[in-house]
Amino acid sequence: MYGLVNKAIEQMVCKNHGVSTWEQIKTEAGVDTAGFISNEPYPDEVTYSLVAAASKTLGAPAEDILKAFGEHWVLHTALESYGPMMRATGNNLHDFLLRLPHLHTRVELIYPNLNPPQFACKKVGDTELELRYWTSRPPGLEPFVEGLIHGLGKMFDTPVRVELRQQRNEDNDYSVFHVSWAEVA
Ligand code: HEM
Repeated sequence: MYGLVNKAIEQMVCKNHGVSTWEQIKTEAGVDTAGFISNEPYPDEVTYSLVAAASKTLGAPAEDILKAFGEHWVLHTALESYGPMMRATGNNLHDFLLRLPHLHTRVELIYPNLNPPQFACKKVGDTELELRYWTSRPPGLEPFVEGLIHGLGKMFDTPVRVELRQQRNEDNDYSVFHVSWAEVA
């Protein structure tokens, strides 16, 4: 994944646990890069190793690290560095999620070698929808998606519920989330 992703993990860990914990996590992961370069692609294993090492060092399940990282990605990385693109995607959670399938097409203009996730949305009701998620990467990124959606809920001040209804398996090449939220006054 592009260095931007690893850099965001670094920022989240340093902000919440300090630089020395980040150094410990890098050592545990066998990563000896002094700093990641945002627009340079790194092997996916670097990102997966950093998450596994953070889980071990912080004594928290990898799923919890990924959920927290999803929220951090939206509220810090995306909003602080790509605010106009985020705001152009939607004015509320409903519209944003409906346009999510097209977001990484725009991101590809900045990061041409992107291997983006794919999303599809099916409206179920006024305040609920089904989100399908495809990735060509190894399994285990669903908690990241859950965290991202919770981050979007916070971005729009809209409390949101996310339920993983179907995990990708041999029969289905995608995962399914049920997303529901409170009516905005
Ligand atoms: C403007 C905001 C955003 C930018 C710049 C961005 C950029 C990126 C980048 C660079 C990657 C790594 C992929 C690679 O290097 O091949 C990535 C992955 C990913 N992004 Fe985004 N992204 C944004 C917003 C979002 C949002 C709002 C979601 C919400 C669901 C999302 C979901 C994901 C997921 C799930 C992955 C993991 C890759 C995979 O599943 O295979 N992104 N994104």
